[in-house]
Amino acid sequence: MKRTLIKEILLSGEAGTEVNIKGWVRTKRGSKSVNFIAMNDGTCLGNLQVVADVASFDEDTLKDTTTGAALSVTGKLVASQGSGQSVEIQAEKIEVLGTADPEKYPIQPKKHTLEFLRENAHLRMRTNTFSAVFRIRHAMIFAVHKFFSEKNFYNIHTPIITSSDAEGAGEMFRVTTLPFDETPRNEEGEVDYSQDFFGKSTNLTVSGQLEGELAAMALGQIYTFGPTFRAENSNTSRHLAEFWMIEPEMAFADLNDNMDLAEEFLKYLIQYALDNCNEDLEFLAKRQEEDEKNKPKEERNMNLIEKLQFVADNDFVRLTYTEAIDILRNSKPNKKGKFKYPVEGFGTDLQSEHERYLVEKKFKKPVILTDYPADIKAFYMRVNDDNKTVAAMDILFPQIGEIVGGSQREERLDVLEAKMDEMGIPKEEMSWYIDTRRFGGAPHAGFGLGFERLISFVTGMGNIRDVIPFPRAPKTCEF
Ligand code: 4AD
Ligand code: MG
Repeated sequence: MKRTLIKEILLSGEAGTEVNIKGWVRTKRGSKSVNFIAMNDGTCLGNLQVVADVASFDEDTLKDTTTGAALSVTGKLVASQGSGQSVEIQAEKIEVLGTADPEKYPIQPKKHTLEFLRENAHLRMRTNTFSAVFRIRHAMIFAVHKFFSEKNFYNIHTPIITSSDAEGAGEMFRVTTLPFDETPRNEEGEVDYSQDFFGKSTNLTVSGQLEGELAAMALGQIYTFGPTFRAENSNTSRHLAEFWMIEPEMAFADLNDNMDLAEEFLKYLIQYALDNCNEDLEFLAKRQEEDEKNKPKEERNMNLIEKLQFVADNDFVRLTYTEAIDILRNSKPNKKGKFKYPVEGFGTDLQSEHERYLVEKKFKKPVILTDYPADIKAFYMRVNDDNKTVAAMDILFPQIGEIVGGSQREERLDVLEAKMDEMGIPKEEMSWYIDTRRFGGAPHAGFGLGFERLISFVTGMGNIRDVIPFPRAPKTCEF
């Protein structure tokens, strides 16, 4: 018999229909005469209740239907006596496909802490919390493609192995096939990458932007959506060593077009989650409300769904970096009246405490900061007329801090080349990039959205390691 998904049964199952389901036991309770087994197959939050008359099954089968076991159940849908669901299955046949020793299976039917589940990351997707998070993650992937496709942006796969450092921050993972023991070295004692697989030094990409720019200067509007890698030694709840980034790039666009696109995109994604992931969001909202009760009143977060609707419905604040510095210098962020990292003035690189102050305390809205000092930003950003700032933008979100980073690109060949010289970026090795300015160069702009930061925001999960199925961070590379 063909398997029916539990989601379909809960949505539209009709009493009297004969069905087969396959899934995992969440809980079992019952009496001497009847067992009630709650089954989940991952397709939705809800469980389907299986009713098994003890007398109709052999003892071993029912003994093995413990939490975590995989079952195939065939039977008739009947109207449910219990509340919360319209149908249940009166089991005729139960096959135990895989047992889960209750003495050893770590995921028990109770609320586990997120720390415990992180330690059992290989099994945590079997909980309601994590299956909800990863269903929402899927919906967001789909919404990203839908948004851009509807706007005539083309998805470009940019390389994962690259020979350049797009961000110039030197946080790259090296890719090499050279043997550890007999690494070839030149006369100066440096590793001789000419003998390596690609004949040069290569690394995992930190961003698809530079290749994305090449594509935008041909296809007009493109976006990348791929894994990116950063060897920054940041053990925070906002950083991963491997994360996914969406990077749109538009030819014939300036910083204002860029901000408009980013704001529209973020609101679209959030509204998509509200419209399509309601059951999972309600579940996560309730989970967080329980956690919030343990916090002092002034530290409690807004209800997850209200927060998402608020961001989807309201304009973001737009202000320049210089204006933000003024605000920060004149503010008293806490009882002590001081930031941990003092804001000295123009040139200060904003820390997450500053960003969060602006968003959570000052404006209580997402903020787009523009026109950062050239010195603290990447080489490719367009220099403003003041010669001090660049046409950059960062979007700051409550509880997250920076969620988007982007800019208008330096399209003027002479200015770009001078900047590359100044920053010590090898022009010969990047002549492919400079060619976009040499041949048919035009104003263009783009940004990068950190996908996991988006998912953290949408799901309300406070730790970024809880929104990617297999997190990589310093000293964390299980699987
Ligand atoms: O600000 P970033 O470094 O910008 C770029 O990479 C540009 N090339 C983007 C572009 O203009 N096309 O990174 C963009 C975003 C950040 O705003 C943040 O959301 C996310 O990527 N991000 C990280 N997310 C998780 N873990 C990390 N270690 C991250 N580093 C950046
Ligand atoms: Mg950034």
